[in-house]
Amino acid sequence: MKKRGLFITFEGIDGCGKTTQLSLLRDYLVNKGYDVIITREPGGNHQLGKDIRNILLYTKCELDDKAEMFLFLADRAQHINKFILPNLKEGKIVLCDRHTDSTLAYQGYGRGQNLEEIIYLNDIATNNIKPDLTFLYDIDVETSNLRVGNEKDRMENTGSIFLEKVRLGYLNIAQNNPESIKIINAVNPIEIVFKDTKKYVEDALKKI
Ligand code: TYD
Repeated sequence: MKKRGLFITFEGIDGCGKTTQLSLLRDYLVNKGYDVIITREPGGNHQLGKDIRNILLYTKCELDDKAEMFLFLADRAQHINKFILPNLKEGKIVLCDRHTDSTLAYQGYGRGQNLEEIIYLNDIATNNIKPDLTFLYDIDVETSNLRVGNEKDRMENTGSIFLEKVRLGYLNIAQNNPESIKIINAVNPIEIVFKDTKKYVEDALKKI
C-alpha cells in the first residue's frame, strides 16, 4: 500500500457523467488494492455540508449571488480541513465529485463573480491544498439538457445560456492549467471515457 495520498477531483457541467466515472474509478482502484474514499461538494461526508447542500439546492429564498458563493466556500473549508486532508494524510486516494473549479466555473464564469476573488477565496478555504489531478468531463449544453431531463434542482434550473457560460469557463480554466486538469470528451460512450480517465490516473499513480 502506498504511503502518500492522491487527491483527484471530477468536474463538468450537469449531466456530464462525472459521478459514473468516479464510481468506476473507485471500483478499479479498490480492485488494485488501494484505499479509496469517495466524496462530493457540496455536502460530502459532514453534517454541515449536508445542511449547506440543502440550502444551496432547495432553498425557496432568492439567494444572493455572493451568499451562494460563500455557502459553497464554507462547505469546502469544512470538507477539506475535517475530511479530505485527514484522509490524504493517512495515505488514501480521495476522489471528490466537484471542488474549487466548480466555484470558478459556476459562480465566476456563470454568475459573473470576480474570478481573481474566487481564486483567492478558494485558496483560503482549502489552505492552498490543491488536487493532484482534475478531470473535466466536457459535454455540450444540448447533451446536458437531454441527460438531466425535467427533474431539476435550483442550480440545474438556471438555463442553457448560464450553462454555456459555465462550460466555456471550465474549458478556459482547463486550457490555462493543462498539467493538472485533463479535458475528456464525455459525449463518448462510458467505456471510452473511462479508458481515457484510467490512462491519466495510471500516470499519476506512478508519481506517488
Ligand atoms: P449536484 O446534485 O451535486 O449536481 P451534480 O451531480 O451535477 O454534481 O449539485 C451540485 C450543483 O451545485 C451543481 O449544479 C453545480 C453547483 N455547484 C456550484 O455552483 N458551485 C460549486 O462550487 C459547487 C461545488 C457546485
